[in-house]
Amino acid sequence: MLTDNPLRFLSRNETETIEIAKDFAASLRVGDVVALSGELGAGKSVFCRAVMRALGVVDEALPSPTFSIIQEYDAANGIAGEHRRVTHMDWYRLGDADEIEMLGIRDYFQVPWICLIEWAERADGLLSDETIRVHISCVANDMEARLVEITGEKPQN
Ligand SMILES: Nc1ncnc2c1ncn2[C@@H]1O[C@H](COP(=O)(O)OP(=O)(O)O)[C@@H](O)[C@H]1O
Ligand SMILES: [Mg+2]
Repeated sequence: MLTDNPLRFLSRNETETIEIAKDFAASLRVGDVVALSGELGAGKSVFCRAVMRALGVVDEALPSPTFSIIQEYDAANGIAGEHRRVTHMDWYRLGDADEIEMLGIRDYFQVPWICLIEWAERADGLLSDETIRVHISCVANDMEARLVEITGEKPQN
């Protein structure tokens, strides 16, 4: 069951965004795809790194031919015995859906992956209705404030 309305959080600084991301990470399950949107510098990477830490990612990504677009990690903090891997993608430099599809990205939309995608709006058509959306926006007159809106997060059970 997906929730329709976005959950809204006001973050007053980077530390609060990290806290929001940690709580969010606890709701993630293998097979989940998270699409992050928001302007450059909004905090998408800050949010993703905090999610990854909460999921137990400790190792650096291995070098790969697609490292600037797709990075792969193992996640330690799985539910007992569950093998989880995390992929962090940035589609900013990619042209269109065809180019993204060519990278075999759909393979990451299933078990054992949890998939975090920055600039997913580059190829929104590749994403299913089940995609969890995280939109981060800056707040006028406050350099450090952000509005974090989460749509489609599953209840924690
Ligand atoms: N409330 C906040 N939440 C997240 N980042 C913040 C916040 N306030 C200031 N920042 C700063 O904004 C920048 C966000 O950068 P980054 O996560 O790389 O953005 P994006 O990936 O969206 O382009 C960082 O330098 C971070 O320190
Ligand atoms: Mg980024």
